[in-house]
Amino acid sequence: MSDQTPHDPRFDNAGATDESLLSAHERELGKKPADNGHYKMLPLVLLFVFSGLIFFAGTYLNEFSGHFDPSVFDEHGKPAQPGAATAAVDPLVLGKRNYDQTCATCHQINGQGVAGIYPPLDGAEWVTGSPERLVHILVYGLKGPVMVKGTEYNAAAMPAFGRVAGSGYNWTDERIAATLTYIRQAWSNQAGPITAEEVAAIRTKEGDRKEMTQEELLQLP
Ligand code: HEC
Repeated sequence: MSDQTPHDPRFDNAGATDESLLSAHERELGKKPADNGHYKMLPLVLLFVFSGLIFFAGTYLNEFSGHFDPSVFDEHGKPAQPGAATAAVDPLVLGKRNYDQTCATCHQINGQGVAGIYPPLDGAEWVTGSPERLVHILVYGLKGPVMVKGTEYNAAAMPAFGRVAGSGYNWTDERIAATLTYIRQAWSNQAGPITAEEVAAIRTKEGDRKEMTQEELLQLP
């Protein structure tokens, strides 16, 4: 084969034959590229992606697994008996929570008030007496001298709790009714409940107004 190809003096002098050149090329082409002893690293970003996924999965399970309780979501479960889920919140439970969290700051948990500043609710005629007067006190607040259990109080004002202009609380009629129902039977008190409808009726009839005074309350039935 080398006999048919015309001689090139440059290759002749190099002492290389076609065969040796071909095999030399073959050797070179078959070689893996030099890597200087390093291997390619997994892209660092994948490490973050996977750590992120594991963290997300853990958080998700923790939040939404429902502790793997079958009653949390059971697509084959039977619907509850009609009426079972409609049991209303006990107004006394709701009322006690409202009272303990808000009213007790001034009137105290035991309803005794603070001598000379906050009048007592336990055994107070305003609490166990006329529902109309009591609703007015809660919805609109009370200011000026007021006689409670034979002692006059006039040191501070009772804030308005109703959904009326100037009230910082804006409690719903249900919430007011529940709280009043609670204080009317708490401690030594034994008066009947007050409904949200009664509160709504009084609030709608009276509209927006400033705090009540004792004189105005006494004119109510
Ligand atoms: C910031 C303190 C404060 C908070 C909170 C407060 N009150 Fe009063 N309350 C007063 C003061 C002061 C009076 C007396 C006002 C006066 O002297 O005219 C009063 C008076 C009353 C009265 C009429 C007087 C009596 O003792 O019977 C009732 C009823 C009453 N508050 C119920 C409540 C209820 C229920 C709550 C919670 C929803 C509540 N108060 C939250 C300060 C407060």
